[in-house]
Amino acid sequence: MNIRLIWWTVIATLASKRLCGFKTKFTNLQCDEFDKPFATFKTCRLKALSRHQVSLNVHVQLHQVPVNNVTINAQLLRKGYDNGYKPFMYNNTADFCQFLKSSSRYMFWKIIFFKIVRPISNINHSCPFDHDIIVKDLILDSSMLELMPFPTNEYMVRLKVAAYNHYKAEVRVYLSIYD
Ligand SMILES: *[C@@H]1O[C@H](CO)[C@@H](O)[C@H](O)[C@H]1NC(C)=O
Ligand SMILES: *[C@@H]1O[C@H](CO)[C@@H](O)[C@H](O)[C@H]1NC(C)=O
Ligand SMILES: *[C@@H]1O[C@H](CO)[C@@H](O)[C@H](O)[C@H]1NC(C)=O
Repeated sequence: MNIRLIWWTVIATLASKRLCGFKTKFTNLQCDEFDKPFATFKTCRLKALSRHQVSLNVHVQLHQVPVNNVTINAQLLRKGYDNGYKPFMYNNTADFCQFLKSSSRYMFWKIIFFKIVRPISNINHSCPFDHDIIVKDLILDSSMLELMPFPTNEYMVRLKVAAYNHYKAEVRVYLSIYD
């Protein structure tokens, strides 16, 4: 075994031990609608199940279906020393219908979407969408930290959703990674 491989094994083992001790949960959720005739939030709520478990519930009513033109700007932000949220690592704008279909672009968001969101939502098919969008009882658990291997801190995922080139809604999901 070469020295590099040994070194990597040591680092990977330490990293996974460290991550195992970390926990993660949702801490806040905010939804804004910018075009009520197009879409409104019926539900935008966190529910505390226990000290370490908080479920996320979002129900968007679409009033002009079918929708087959969706653009999403997805940003990850991290809390800074001044308590303001600062851009952190990912800020991507993608054609969501294309994103659902294929391509290996936006790998971080792909993993988050396909591993965490899709299984507990009805966003489980390609465009168009002719029904309400429902994410129900989404819970973060520590195994998901393998997908988000970040240091302990407060984070925000901000999703700006546009259809036909106009922003329709914004969702801000706050989560904590803690020891
Ligand atoms: C994120 O990207 C969008 C365009 O994709 C841009 O308008 C925005 O300014 C960027 N935000 C930051 C904080 O870099
Ligand atoms: C998508 O999700 C809905 C609601 O959970 C379910 O009824 C439907 O069977 C799912 N469809 C696919 C293709 O998985
Ligand atoms: C979405 O709609 C806008 C405005 O009508 C248009 O400019 C854009 O090309 C459309 N995008 C796709 C992927 O169809």
